[in-house]
Amino acid sequence: MQASRPTATSRIRRASARRVIRLGVRRRFRTFSWSSEPLSSVLLHFDDEAAAAAKLAAACGCAIRPIERHRFPDGELRLRLPERLPRVVVLFRGLAYPNEKLVELMLAADTARALGAEQVVLVAPYMAYMRQDIAFRVGEAVSQRIIGRYLANLFDAVITVDPHLHRVETLGEAIPVTDALALSAAPLLGDFVAGRRRAPLLMGPDSESAQWVASAAAAHGFDHAVCSKVRHGDRNVEIALPEMAVAGRSVVIVDDVASTGHTVAVATQLLLAAGAASVDLAVTHALFAEGALALVREAGVSEVWSTDAIAHPTNAVSVAPLIAEALLPLMAR
Ligand code: R5P
Repeated sequence: MQASRPTATSRIRRASARRVIRLGVRRRFRTFSWSSEPLSSVLLHFDDEAAAAAKLAAACGCAIRPIERHRFPDGELRLRLPERLPRVVVLFRGLAYPNEKLVELMLAADTARALGAEQVVLVAPYMAYMRQDIAFRVGEAVSQRIIGRYLANLFDAVITVDPHLHRVETLGEAIPVTDALALSAAPLLGDFVAGRRRAPLLMGPDSESAQWVASAAAAHGFDHAVCSKVRHGDRNVEIALPEMAVAGRSVVIVDDVASTGHTVAVATQLLLAAGAASVDLAVTHALFAEGALALVREAGVSEVWSTDAIAHPTNAVSVAPLIAEALLPLMAR
């Protein structure tokens, strides 16, 4: 039988059927596109840390979403998280200048659970309140223990870099969660120094820094030692150099934190007075309170190299790959 020639009406019908099929394909494709595909995990961050969070998300290859933050005229905060959340939610929040951020963590972690999260992980490249680990005078709050318990009530896991653990051995003692991971950037700083100075002498400014100095020195066999320090006040420290020759040496001070800069400044003055050829600083957390960097430079520090655990113009080493390595297994659970 001969096929009948298509009429104008049948041509229109076939064309619109083809359009419907194409639309259907497109609709199906949209359903499976990245933006609406159900995620197994997501990294949430605040607007002021978008760059650091993006770096970590890129290192993990994971999805990233911002948390909206509104400040009311009286200073209270309103946060808004994405409407639906996957099983694993990673909250990225560095805790330098921490007081208000601790409230943000409480609001965000609780809301994340209400929106479907079953595992809430805190990534805080800098962990606050770790230095007050005992009551130095009767009546003082032991901040490390109190803040640690507070965070343990909010999160299932905590990851941080070079927390100031002195009289406690592990981060889990300070923040009692199942996965309390304290990573160290000291080996990365050691590698960086190796590319900048020949046969340097690594110097810790106090006994607490022995752990970081030793681990920065290890892979390269650098000479290393620590000073002794007595702190009389926020901006008043007394330091004694170790009994070793520093004359003519390229000294690199290695520490976890530079805050007021007084520790580094005093150590530098002593080292230069003892004949050190140069003094540089390699530090994990560039807290650098107002005027601190200038103080350190005036004391004679040549170069300041910090990690990006706290964003600062002296950042020279990224901790994103280090954190990603620890975070990926938690995200895959
Ligand atoms: C304390 O023991 C830390 O390791 C640092 O040495 C200290 O926090 C540095 O503080 P600042 O810069 O205020 O002297």
